[in-house]
This record gives sequence, C-alpha cells and structure tokens, in this order.
Amino acid sequence: MKTFYSSEFWNQGLIQLADNDYVVIDSFLPKELLNNLERKFILNENKQLFEPAKIGSAEVEKRITEIRSDYTYWLDRERDSDIVTFFEIVDELIRNCAEVLYLSLQGFEFHFARYPKGGFYKAHLDQFDSRSNRMLSMVIYLNHDWAIGDGGELRLLEPCIKTIEPLYNRAVIFRSDVVLHEVLQSNKLRRSITGWILKRPSGVDLLGL
Ligand code: OGA
Ligand code: NI
Repeated sequence: MKTFYSSEFWNQGLIQLADNDYVVIDSFLPKELLNNLERKFILNENKQLFEPAKIGSAEVEKRITEIRSDYTYWLDRERDSDIVTFFEIVDELIRNCAEVLYLSLQGFEFHFARYPKGGFYKAHLDQFDSRSNRMLSMVIYLNHDWAIGDGGELRLLEPCIKTIEPLYNRAVIFRSDVVLHEVLQSNKLRRSITGWILKRPSGVDLLGL
C-alpha cells in the first residue's frame, strides 16, 4: 500500500491530538496535490459551483447568515478523481488513528470552503446534537501570503484557547465533539479544504450537508 508519511510523523501528530484535543501540522500536503487542489478550487469558483453553507442536521437545514457566511463545494471521491491523492492521505490518517490511538473511524466527508471578504463562522461544535457521527475535524488552508491583520483566524475556545492563522498548507485536526471553535472575520478571501472523519460511513441521505 502506498504511504505518504512515516509512522513517526503520524505518532507525533496523533499523540499531540490525543493530549491536547487538537494538533497543527504545517507544510502538510505534497506540493503537486496542493497545486491540483488549488486549481480545482479556483475552477469551481469560476464555474460558480459553490453554495451557501448550511447549519444543523439534514432535516432542519437553513442558511443562517448571522452564524456563518462561507460557501462550500462538497467533494466526492468518485467524481473528483483528479484529487484521489487527497482521499488516499485521509485513508492513511484513518489507518493511523486505529494504530496509534486505537480509534476506529470509517469514512469521511470533505468540502472546499470559501469565506468571502468579511466572512466568519460563530462559535460552534462540529458534532450536531442529532447526529454524533463526526469524530475528527480537519482543515487545510490554501491562503498564500496570509498576514497579520488579514483576520480569518481559527480560534479554539474550549477546552483550551488558541488562535491559529489560516496559513498556506497548514493542517489543523481537532476533536469534533469537544472543541468549541469559531472563524474570526476574514478581511480577505479565505480558502480551505475542510472535512470530518466519521465513526460510521456517511449515508447517502446525509451527503450534501
Ligand atoms: C467548520 C469550521 C474552521 C476553519 O467548517 O466547521 O469550523 O478554520 N472551519 O475553517
Ligand atoms: Ni467547525
């Protein structure tokens, strides 16, 4: 099986995740994949395929602009085969969660997220009350030349306070059930690939959240 990272890499990262409920990993994705992700992101922006993000479970979905103002494009492993390497890396993360943390996870759901200038996401947990399938949240930022004052930081509020700048190719992984977090207002366009590693495979009816 193809592997992208050493077992020391995963050991180190996942033990930090277990100890602190989050981990920040800089320079995460291979360069070629990053370029493909960026190209696809921008292509889909130009094709206007992004949709206003929703809140809550499938039944009560509503766009609530006071809570979040990002736009999303949901990824699909079969359709988006040009970024298969990304999905293989998530598979590797899942295998290592089992090996290092004895944490059994199955499946994932990811989207591209686009916060226009002024965009934000108020404090929330990523696990919905009605559906506790999301175990780990993962965000990888695609912002070149991010500078202090540009805003859009990810702020963790509980169980610890931490402000994380959305720097290019920085990955953040955190526990979806306990980490209260928000996205501070972004003063310029903010791009990321964001997703969740699930306890059970995602059902077709749950896709598109
Ligand atoms: C989310 C979220 C954080 C970020 O999409 O649920 O909290 O930094 N994203 O984009
Ligand atoms: Ni979140």
